[in-house]
Amino acid sequence: MDMSEEKHKAMGEKQPKDQTKAQASGWLFLRRPPAVLDPIRRLFEPPRRLIEPYVKKGQVVADLGCGSGYYTFALAELVGPEGRVYAVDLSEKGIQALEKKVDEGGYHNIEAHASSASDVSFIKDRSVDFVLANGLLCSMADHRESAVNEIKRILKSTGQAYLSLGFPTPLGLVDQAEWEKILEGFRVKRRGGSLEKWAVVSVKPEVV
Ligand SMILES: C[S@@+](CC[C@H](N)C(=O)[O-])C[C@H]1O[C@@H](n2cnc3c(N)ncnc32)[C@H](O)[C@@H]1O
Repeated sequence: MDMSEEKHKAMGEKQPKDQTKAQASGWLFLRRPPAVLDPIRRLFEPPRRLIEPYVKKGQVVADLGCGSGYYTFALAELVGPEGRVYAVDLSEKGIQALEKKVDEGGYHNIEAHASSASDVSFIKDRSVDFVLANGLLCSMADHRESAVNEIKRILKSTGQAYLSLGFPTPLGLVDQAEWEKILEGFRVKRRGGSLEKWAVVSVKPEVV
């Protein structure tokens, strides 16, 4: 599949040919929540509450699958002007909406990229303190393994990543077996119970 086809999928513009009907209908739910609902979302999911324990002033962080920036701006405030936030999403529309808010809010520490999380080569190896991948992997129609490898590549040895799946299969695209396989590739520091698909992970120490 070429990149433009993948982009169409992410934006829900065309029903994917290679997915089951349930997955395809689930896709609609997996599109980022419209930004207009953010005030309601803030009531039960205040963005700082999730990320505050992991992010410090001056750090470099990556918000992969950032949508229109629900967490991006909270990350930018936490890292402050000396820090940097890479905001990455496959959806050009999402990134355009985010860039508008970046300009309006005068944020100088957010670098937005319309790109697949499966190739974030604009981020250097071992340069990121914290990766947020909230609802990303379960929304990726394919190339999930590459995205996981990119997270491992960009994380510092002291860095951490918060991975979460928004929906179980068939709505989400990652089943339990794949989730376990993804986590096996990391050092898992914390994770949710059997029904909660989130984990805080770091890279495994390299075998020499
Ligand atoms: C469930 S939304 C989560 C958005 C955001 N992280 C949040 O918590 O509000 C999933 C996001 O992943 C994006 N996405 C899907 N496939 C992607 C890919 N291959 N690379 C980067 N982003 C992708 C979608 O465009 C969507 O914005």
